[in-house]
Amino acid sequence: MARDSLRDGHGRLIEDLRLSVTDRCNLRCAYCMPAEGLPWLAREEVLSFEELARVVALLAQMGVVDVRLTGGEPLVRRDLPVLVAMLRRIGELRELSLTTNGLLLERDAPALVAAGVDRFNVSLDSVDRERYAELTRRDALPRVMCGLRRLAEVGCPGPIKVNAVALRGYTEREVLPLAEFARQGRFEVRFIEFMPLDADRAWQRERVLTGAEVRAAIDAVHPLVEEPREPSATARTFRFADGRGRIGFVNPVSEPFCGDCNRIRLTADGHLRTCLFSLNETDLRTPLRAGADDDELEQIVRAAVWRKELKHRVDEPGFIQPERTMSAIGG
Ligand code: 5AD
Ligand code: SF4
Repeated sequence: MARDSLRDGHGRLIEDLRLSVTDRCNLRCAYCMPAEGLPWLAREEVLSFEELARVVALLAQMGVVDVRLTGGEPLVRRDLPVLVAMLRRIGELRELSLTTNGLLLERDAPALVAAGVDRFNVSLDSVDRERYAELTRRDALPRVMCGLRRLAEVGCPGPIKVNAVALRGYTEREVLPLAEFARQGRFEVRFIEFMPLDADRAWQRERVLTGAEVRAAIDAVHPLVEEPREPSATARTFRFADGRGRIGFVNPVSEPFCGDCNRIRLTADGHLRTCLFSLNETDLRTPLRAGADDDELEQIVRAAVWRKELKHRVDEPGFIQPERTMSAIGG
């Protein structure tokens, strides 16, 4: 059944959903979580696979065609490939992608690809074992590398991307090794500017290593050629001039791309967020569990999406950091 497409009050067409399946994580990245972790959601607060599939099916009828599974760390959710297969049965969906820290990829890559994940983003902030452990507080780089290798062997339809958060005071030393990693040609590396979504609330503008700075550092050694950008793509992508590999930059702080944002987010406890930085969210879980039918849920979703923020104000005075942190939103 088709429903009217989903538009916000600024005329943007919403076609992309980030679906957080858990707020838990098996890493403790310093820019995201405190060492002791966060107070996790109780099991019963988290949407079941059936509830998730119901919401996605409804959104798909309203024109959401791309779904990305996120966390916390999505692979710590038991039987994730089962959810993937359930979502794959939703005919309207075009692309199903997954953002993971890679720790469990060696175990799960084959089942996830078989169940229908087409694209993977693997978070990797350093290719040096000690530096990785310093930032993530776990000595897990060898496992992530095994996971990446496994994923490449299994082969998935889309590209495999490796995401690195660009932090001033840390990432400068990682830039060239990560560029070399990209130049091996198997993975596209993308640098993402550090955003104020950390649990410690230690974000400062000065801690953002901008995409332009990272790009200049790489370009000085390995010249880069920019590729055309698709509308609503978050990354600016480049290929190395000598033809070896690609690299991208997601610059939400220095070059916000809110104007053509087509995304909404659902937290693991069933709250709809229309922006990463939203200060309000819309509870879908309560009506869902109270027996609301699809038409009622549709109205709630439409009303929330209509109020989608025009843009974030990260780089403006008076910016207020949302209560939920990255791991509870899903990125
Ligand atoms: N700013 C930018 N990226 C972040 N991530 C986590 N926290 C932040 C932040 N504050 C990244 C993770 C992962 C993705 C989900 O978001 O490293 O790659
Ligand atoms: Fe976990 Fe991702 Fe946060 Fe790192 S950034 S602690 S991998 S949720």
